[in-house]
Amino acid sequence: MVAGHEFKPRILGFLCNWCCYAGADLAGVSRYQYPPHIRVIRLMCSGRVDPAFILRAFSNGADGVFIGGCWPGECHYITEGNYEAITVMHICRKLLELIGVNPERLRLEWVSASEGIRFAEVVTDFTSKLKELGPLGTGEGIEENGLKFRLEAVKNLLPYIKLVERERLRVRFDTAEEYNEFFTSDEVNRLFHELIVDKLALSQIMVLLRERPLSTGEISEILDLNPSEVTRHLNSSARHGLVRFDESQKRFAPA
Ligand code: FES
Repeated sequence: MVAGHEFKPRILGFLCNWCCYAGADLAGVSRYQYPPHIRVIRLMCSGRVDPAFILRAFSNGADGVFIGGCWPGECHYITEGNYEAITVMHICRKLLELIGVNPERLRLEWVSASEGIRFAEVVTDFTSKLKELGPLGTGEGIEENGLKFRLEAVKNLLPYIKLVERERLRVRFDTAEEYNEFFTSDEVNRLFHELIVDKLALSQIMVLLRERPLSTGEISEILDLNPSEVTRHLNSSARHGLVRFDESQKRFAPA
């Protein structure tokens, strides 16, 4: 950041038409003051937010992503999309954490149509949090290119992650607290570790190798992974015909 220039976080907000968007509208009409850094996309329900939207927002330079929905029990659809939004938020936060991005850059809040003041407050609070965290990537100590390929690796893995969500993480509870408890439980953390961590590391290696051939040491340094772990992934990928060792360059490349 250049000295003297205040960091103005870029926030992309996905707001449910029926509650949070109306709340934002009321905040504007009522002239409640809040930082002007949020750009809004109106959706019919917070349950419409797909992990791909969130990743694309970060890839395109958002420092924070905000999801605003109806209060639990007040979603206008029988599928109760706001509970689906809780699931998406938790999964995306875990993925962000795995690639070294602060999960607090993604926030989900409930705001009703009559809560203009609450909308102003939560946006103000989120903006302050992002100012504390600093620009995306820089705040985490990740250089721009590194951030790009990490996000790309998660994007490439999304079809598999959605499958895991459908098969192993689709739950039905009656309260938001129960969802939060479930997604922060040891059971889910273990499941995430068993089913996603390795695949994500491999996805990052594949994205890196598509840029240029690399040695085990170079990969382990860029990804901050143990060299033995990198070797394990490369050997398994070579067995599956995904990568090959280029003898002339003494480096691995996509097959
Ligand atoms: Fe608002 Fe579903 S209609 S969250």
